[in-house]
Amino acid sequence: MLVLGIESTCDETGCAIVEDGRKILSNIVSSQTELHEVYGGVVPELASRRHIEIFPTILKQALAEADVTLKQIDLIAVAKGPGLIGALLVGLNFAKGLALSQGIPFVGVNHVKAHLTAAMMEKEVPFPALGLIVSGGHTALVVVKSEGEFELIGQTQNDAIGETFDKVATMLGLKYPGGPKLELLAKGGNPLRFPLKIGRTGDRPYDFSFSGLKTAMLYLIKGQNGSSHGPDVISEEEKKDAAASFQHVAFTDIANKATLAAKEFGCKSIIVGGGVSRNLTLRIYLEEKCQLPIFWPQDELCLDNGAMIASHGYFEYKRKGTSDPFDLEALPRIPIGEK
Ligand code: KG4
Ligand code: ZN
Repeated sequence: MLVLGIESTCDETGCAIVEDGRKILSNIVSSQTELHEVYGGVVPELASRRHIEIFPTILKQALAEADVTLKQIDLIAVAKGPGLIGALLVGLNFAKGLALSQGIPFVGVNHVKAHLTAAMMEKEVPFPALGLIVSGGHTALVVVKSEGEFELIGQTQNDAIGETFDKVATMLGLKYPGGPKLELLAKGGNPLRFPLKIGRTGDRPYDFSFSGLKTAMLYLIKGQNGSSHGPDVISEEEKKDAAASFQHVAFTDIANKATLAAKEFGCKSIIVGGGVSRNLTLRIYLEEKCQLPIFWPQDELCLDNGAMIASHGYFEYKRKGTSDPFDLEALPRIPIGEK
């Protein structure tokens, strides 16, 4: 079955053709980083406009690279949420238009769940698996019973890990999106130099809390009364230690909770998804802590892309059938725990 996957939840426009949920025939992604960089973050209105401009070109490229025509597509899968409302509406309506005009079955999928499907595309994963989602907008632990079936067991109570990386990176004077740049800066630093603390999560052992850590980083870099863009109170050399210490405390927490949860829920493996899964320090911390097999997405599937939407759409279609293009709405705040 040939599935066209369409992604536009934030600042990446993606079209991909995937066969039977696993074989990627093409995966075209257009990133808007340069457009938003000057503003220090994503400007929703600009993101929507760029999606509108670029979708036809991206679709043509995806079809050409896969060497198929629109007529050969068996299913169109689109990210219905969560994400920016304007950006979602562009992808959703593009997908609906294609589906209705060509008479192609159509399915809307949850973008966050699709991030986990990315790591399952290449290899057979032993279930139940513990899913760890570490993206710009989400941080969560889920039990994955099969390719489409997820049960939420914990999530962040405030900021997501990717968002925290980006905000701390801004304090360190790094350009948006700062996550990968913070990782680079931390390379030369001492992770034990600054004793930082991770936030408490009350009686929810598998939840996360990063907002206190973010504030602690602000005080460390800018002083007690400082603001994100104010002058630094630490040297350039100390910034490396600050970045390494930040990664150390955040990733120790994530690795500990994922390992404990996998044990408690009898999981046979761990699956990781989302932009922060590109971070090599996270990979090392989790591999060292947890003895189970760990499945990471290929590099080009870590960030937002259409291939993971096509793959997840295939499994959702097998489980639940199609969506009605006249009925399906964009769902900017759809919960991760949605069945
Ligand atoms: O999954 P994603 O593409 O978007 C969402 O669905 O949210 O993730 C983007 C996030 C950004 O916050 C970015 O800074 C972060 O992933 N990221 C990283 C790294 N590469 C991307 N964070 C830490 N280390 C990295 N190497
Ligand atoms: Zn994403």
